[in-house]
Amino acid sequence: MPRIEPPVLADISLRINGSDHELTIDTRTSLLDLLREHLDLTGAKKGCDHGQCGACTILIDGRRANACLALAVAHDGAEIVSIEGLADGEELHPLQRAFIEHDAFQCGYCTPGQLCSATGMLAEVRDGWPSAVTPAGLTEGSLELSDEEIRERMNGNLCRCGAYANIVPAIAEAAGQ
Ligand code: FES
Ligand code: FES
Repeated sequence: MPRIEPPVLADISLRINGSDHELTIDTRTSLLDLLREHLDLTGAKKGCDHGQCGACTILIDGRRANACLALAVAHDGAEIVSIEGLADGEELHPLQRAFIEHDAFQCGYCTPGQLCSATGMLAEVRDGWPSAVTPAGLTEGSLELSDEEIRERMNGNLCRCGAYANIVPAIAEAAGQ
């Protein structure tokens, strides 16, 4: 009989949506499972658990990431924002408002990931990060967020309902605010 080793545990601290958490976790725990299974924050969705759909997108230290691919133990001390932390109290985030105004969802399963991803994406644009369709030679601050740019930059977030035609203008509107 092969010997089954007990899980390796680690103590980590995370700031999640503005609250500090001290946690003891199995070192194999992803941030997605930590949020959903340990803290009952079920906004980030498990679509594929393989980094292919973007439904689990959260912000780690302000940058978007697939929570299903991020081991929690590797992010000890990080600041995490999930969809539950995007609004400012009762005040919706501009992207949330724009998604509602543009009817940018159907079943809503991909929407938390779309919103967190778009938040991170707009920060990348503000920081002057080019995408694969950004013309060469643009200087920081001169980047125009065309529909093509939005589609390219959001291509890691799949929508099975095909709400892209409304997601793109929603993001464009929020970007202009
Ligand atoms: S659940 Fe993480 S990318 Fe699909
Ligand atoms: S709204 Fe249903 S998957 Fe995107």
